[in-house]
Amino acid sequence: MSNNVRPESMARITTSQQANAFIEEQVAQIRAQVGDKKVLLALSGGVDSSVVAALLIKAVGKQLVCVHVNHGLMRKGESEQVIEVFGKQMDANLIYVDATDRFLNLLAGVSAPEQKRKIIGGEFIKVFDEEAAKLEGISFLAQGTIYPDILESDGVKAHHNVGGLPEDMQFELVEPLRLLYKDEVRVVGDALGLPHSMVYRQPFPGPGLGVRCLGAITRDRLNALREADAILRDEFDKNGLAEKVWQYFIAVPDMKSVGVKDGKRYEGWPAIIRAVNTTDAMTATVEEIPYPLLHKITERITAEVPGINRVLYDLTPKPIGTIEWE
Ligand code: XMP
Repeated sequence: MSNNVRPESMARITTSQQANAFIEEQVAQIRAQVGDKKVLLALSGGVDSSVVAALLIKAVGKQLVCVHVNHGLMRKGESEQVIEVFGKQMDANLIYVDATDRFLNLLAGVSAPEQKRKIIGGEFIKVFDEEAAKLEGISFLAQGTIYPDILESDGVKAHHNVGGLPEDMQFELVEPLRLLYKDEVRVVGDALGLPHSMVYRQPFPGPGLGVRCLGAITRDRLNALREADAILRDEFDKNGLAEKVWQYFIAVPDMKSVGVKDGKRYEGWPAIIRAVNTTDAMTATVEEIPYPLLHKITERITAEVPGINRVLYDLTPKPIGTIEWE
């Protein structure tokens, strides 16, 4: 790609007017680059890939082929939202691959965190490659690369980008967001009419719930984690914390404790709440969730999620704890 350095003169995009000007300029550039050829995009539903998808749909419509790989480690409702927004509302060319069984079978019995990440990253590339091989006449690969990815390409993020695609793919890249910072991508996403919940979504690691279902993943514990996480998100939404707190989630360790329910012994997993604030994810402080809300969340999770019998609150800043548990 031609230019990967942000010019000093480039103004920060903060208004919808600036976003519209950017969109217009990029639509023209994408059309000039792509012509009548086809473009492939791995659409995770994260902010960056979603904004790239919306931009390319505006520029080249059905010449864009989006592939959404559901690795079975998505949060509740996320794949459904991708299908609803891109498949239905935007009428995009969307290929949905439910690869849940492939991923969970490979991960069965694997407890080492880095091994889990490797398996998820490797299998993602395999599934995407297989889908790409079925398609004819693809010339371009679109990616949601943003400016911090370029700046930090040999830092932390490189190791984190497990959703990265194989380097030997024979496609020319289309990276319309490569000079933008995250906040600018969001302004552009808003101007493109994407749902607020998609554009202002909190960061979510590529390996998804896989690194929050601690140790060897089992389907029942993964389900419990997904349901508990959905309750946490719902309560944060209702109580005005969703857009205030940088990242919040549940982790469920591979251990049980004794409890009691309906007068009977009830063994279950603990759900651990993590809610942190940071600017760069290198250090983080813990959000002070009001106690009444903590009680409400605890009540709901223990009542509504089979298998969970305790709720804990992680008070550890980074350092010493990382944001994720593994
Ligand atoms: P840690 O746990 O290192 O996390 O304090 C810092 C930020 O990075 C995210 N994270 C990941 N993102 N793939 C990703 O795409 C990963 O393997 C991964 N591990 C951590 C984490 O959610 C936090 O925002």
